[in-house]
Amino acid sequence: MKLTIVYSSISGNTEELAHMIMEQFKLKGLDIACYRVEDFPLHLLPTFDGLLIGTYTWGDGEVPLEMIPLQTQLNSRSWEHLITGVFGTGDSFYPKFCGAVNAFRDSLKDKTNLAVTLKVELLPQESDMGRIATFVDRIIERMSILA
Ligand SMILES: Cc1cc2nc3c(=O)[nH]c(=O)nc-3n(C[C@H](O)[C@H](O)[C@H](O)COP(=O)(O)O)c2cc1C
Repeated sequence: MKLTIVYSSISGNTEELAHMIMEQFKLKGLDIACYRVEDFPLHLLPTFDGLLIGTYTWGDGEVPLEMIPLQTQLNSRSWEHLITGVFGTGDSFYPKFCGAVNAFRDSLKDKTNLAVTLKVELLPQESDMGRIATFVDRIIERMSILA
């Protein structure tokens, strides 16, 4: 199965989370690619079996601008064989905590085989490790069912 993470991050919190997730996959002996969204060739999307989206939230609970082309591509058709997960960091000071994760969750639930979501407060901490491990396990379980 071919898996990739595609994420956006300005101040590094979501990037750190993406790297922690990638590390967990590697510890389990699974290979996973990882792209910043700006570097991800959208035309390759159909070549993946699994897609993990990482996003921060900006404005009033909004999806970052650089993530919109990916969201539009996912919304453009059904990707029923694509196993997906969405993770993100946000700040619970804002009324719509991790609103971009919610927006992607709704798209992915509709258009893909969504396995799991994860929201983390700002920079991931040691105390988030359990939820990060569960996120990775849920993806692996979903892949095993289909393998
Ligand atoms: C202008 C601005 C608006 C934001 N709006 C939200 C928001 O609506 N909801 C939320 O959960 N976090 C919001 N945040 C917080 C960021 O999503 C949070 O700091 C995140 O961890 C940044 O991720 P990054 O370090 O990967 O760039 C906002 C931050 C800024 C600067």
